[in-house]
Amino acid sequence: MDPIDLRSDTVTQPTPEMREAMSAAPLGDDVLEGDPSVRNLEAKVADLLGREAALFVPSGTMANLLAVRSQTQPGEEIICDENCHIYYYEAAGFAAVGGCSLRFTRGERGHFTAEDVARLVRIDDEHFPRTSLVAVENTHNRGGGSVWPIEQLAEVYCESKSRGLRVHMDGARLWNACAQAELSPADFAEFADTVSVCFSKGLGCPVGSALVGDDETIGRARRLRKVIGGAMRQAGLLAAAASYALDHNRQRMKEDHARARTLASKVAEIPGLTLDADRVQTNMLYFTVEPSLGTAREFCEKLDDRVRMLDEGPQSVRAVVHLHITDEDIDRAADEIAAAAGSQSVSA
Ligand SMILES: Cc1ncc(COP(=O)(O)O)c(C=O)c1O
Repeated sequence: MDPIDLRSDTVTQPTPEMREAMSAAPLGDDVLEGDPSVRNLEAKVADLLGREAALFVPSGTMANLLAVRSQTQPGEEIICDENCHIYYYEAAGFAAVGGCSLRFTRGERGHFTAEDVARLVRIDDEHFPRTSLVAVENTHNRGGGSVWPIEQLAEVYCESKSRGLRVHMDGARLWNACAQAELSPADFAEFADTVSVCFSKGLGCPVGSALVGDDETIGRARRLRKVIGGAMRQAGLLAAAASYALDHNRQRMKEDHARARTLASKVAEIPGLTLDADRVQTNMLYFTVEPSLGTAREFCEKLDDRVRMLDEGPQSVRAVVHLHITDEDIDRAADEIAAAAGSQSVSA
């Protein structure tokens, strides 16, 4: 039996319907005259988020990097959560390519407050870097897939704007946030100057992300995309998958969230594993492994041929539910995790 792959929602494969949409896509050279399927996707995403323009890029990492590089100058500073993806998992692109430093908030599950922004923004003094950008992440990955409360986001945005700062939202999983909060992408995007979104995670596409914002900023990002080698040719093949996913795979995300909650409630019952099931809001769950069961990595390795998960800290394991995961997979995964922890079945 194949292992149940809960390492990430990035492991999904395009479905036959998505492959059909890809093979039917009209194509062009997106660096010369433009690819019609890419243009169509960019217009669709800009419209969904209620913004002027969107830029199709290969990855969420590139979308975030372009957001940083198009809204800051080298030597400036970005306010963000200490666990955000831009800091934790993007190979310090903000510094290597953007020349920026970071100033950290330590918010609840990755969500900080308007007061944090007011406290951390630099005064105008030649000793200090200039603060130019505030970065929020929604859903927050290391915050457990947590959704920003919209009122808090609005407050952070207003405070940032009153101080002349730009706001970028890493919305790699904005679609999950929308499904959970029952809000539209435009509702969240109202409180950011730029938003990055991914198609290659819960939406199930093989490749692709977008950066969304006003015409001027996205124009700058388009030139920068060329600088870093991210301009693609017949990218309509990939854009068609994203268009298909936006039309067909957003509504079903609630099913992933329900399955994540079911798995969380089962894992929470297993002795030696700690998880607060009430905190599982979207498609992710993090649990802690008691040291007597080994490290998180040892625990994952023990299960790897049956249930695949990622260690995200010495004792912390992450599991992510996505569109290939069924109710039966959830029951089987819970049983296997229980067995690895030396417990009885929890699926009954
Ligand atoms: C919150 C968040 N932002 C950005 C990214 C980067 O996306 P990519 O892997 O496409 O570069 C990820 C990837 O998992 C993510 O979780």
